[in-house]
Amino acid sequence: MEHVILDVDTGIDDALAIAYAVHSPELDVLGITTCFGNVSQKEATRNTLQVLDVLDADDNIPVIPGANEPISGQHIKEKSTRIHGEDGLGNSGLPLSKRTPYSSEAADFIIEKMEEYPGQITVIAVGPQTNMALAIQKNPEIVRLAKRVVIMGGAVTVPGNVTPNAEANIYADPEAASIVFKSGMPVTLVGLDVTMQTLLRVEDVQQWGEVKSDYSDFLQTICNFYMDAYHQFNPELGGSALHDPLAVGVVIDPSFVKTTPMHVGVNVERGDALGNTHEVAQKNKNVEVCLDIDVDHFVSHFLNRIV
Ligand code: BDR
Ligand code: CA
Repeated sequence: MEHVILDVDTGIDDALAIAYAVHSPELDVLGITTCFGNVSQKEATRNTLQVLDVLDADDNIPVIPGANEPISGQHIKEKSTRIHGEDGLGNSGLPLSKRTPYSSEAADFIIEKMEEYPGQITVIAVGPQTNMALAIQKNPEIVRLAKRVVIMGGAVTVPGNVTPNAEANIYADPEAASIVFKSGMPVTLVGLDVTMQTLLRVEDVQQWGEVKSDYSDFLQTICNFYMDAYHQFNPELGGSALHDPLAVGVVIDPSFVKTTPMHVGVNVERGDALGNTHEVAQKNKNVEVCLDIDVDHFVSHFLNRIV
C-alpha cells in the first residue's frame, strides 16, 4: 500500500479524487490537507469533511487545514464559482459534518508524516502548491524524505484554462509552484496536457442514478453541475475533465500515463504569462511531465472504482 497525503482545494473534481482515493485499496490515505483555491481554505475544509461523511469514510482520516492565501500574500485568482458552484460542491446543500478538522497545520502535518515514513510518502497535490511550499520552507529536509509529489497542475505543451497561458492551480500561487519545482523533490506533473483528454460524460453520470444511495445522489448533483459548467465554456468538448482524479490514478497505476523528464520553469512575473509552465533548456530535469495517456484505461478504472 502506498502511503499518501491528499492536498486539496475541494472543489468538484477534488471531491471525485477523494472518493477515488478512499475507494482504492492500493492507497493508504494518511490525511487530507486543505488549501484555498477553488474556494477559501475554510470552505475547502468544510467540503472535505462533508465529502468524507457522504463517502462514509473512516473517521480516522484526519483533515488538516492549510493555507488561505498564496505565499506572496496577494490573491491573484478568484474563487471558481462558475465551475464548482457557490459552495464549491455544485450547490449540493450537504449537511454540515460532525467531524472536526485536525488541530495542526497542513505544512506541519506534511513534515511530521515525512519524518515518520522516510522515503515512503507521496503527496497528491490537486490544489495550489502553497502547503507543499510552506512545508519545504519550514523544513527543507523533507525534500529528501519525500517519495514524490504528484501535482495536478500546469500546462506545459497546451494552452492554459484560467488564462491562455496558465492552469488554475499554478496560477493561484505561482511562487509556491516555483519553490516546489526548484526544491529538488521528485515531482510528477499531471497537467492539462493529459487531464483535458480524460472526460466524464453525461452517459457515465446517468448510470449512477441506477444505484440509489445518498452517495450516488451526491455524485450526480456535483457532476451534473460540473458538466453544465464545462458545456457552457466549451460545448465541443463533450464532457468535463477529470483533472484531480487523474493525479490519484497515476499513483494507483503509473501505466495510465507516460512521463517525460523535463526542466520546467514557472513564470512568476506579474503580466500575461503569470503562472505559465514551460520547458527550459537545461540539463538537470526537475519534473516528470505526463504527456501521454491511455484515456480508456484510466477512465474505465475511475468509473468502476467511484461507485
Ligand atoms: C484544477 O483547478 C481546479 O479548478 C480543479 O479542482 C483542478 O485541481 C484544474 O485546472
Ligand atoms: Ca483541485
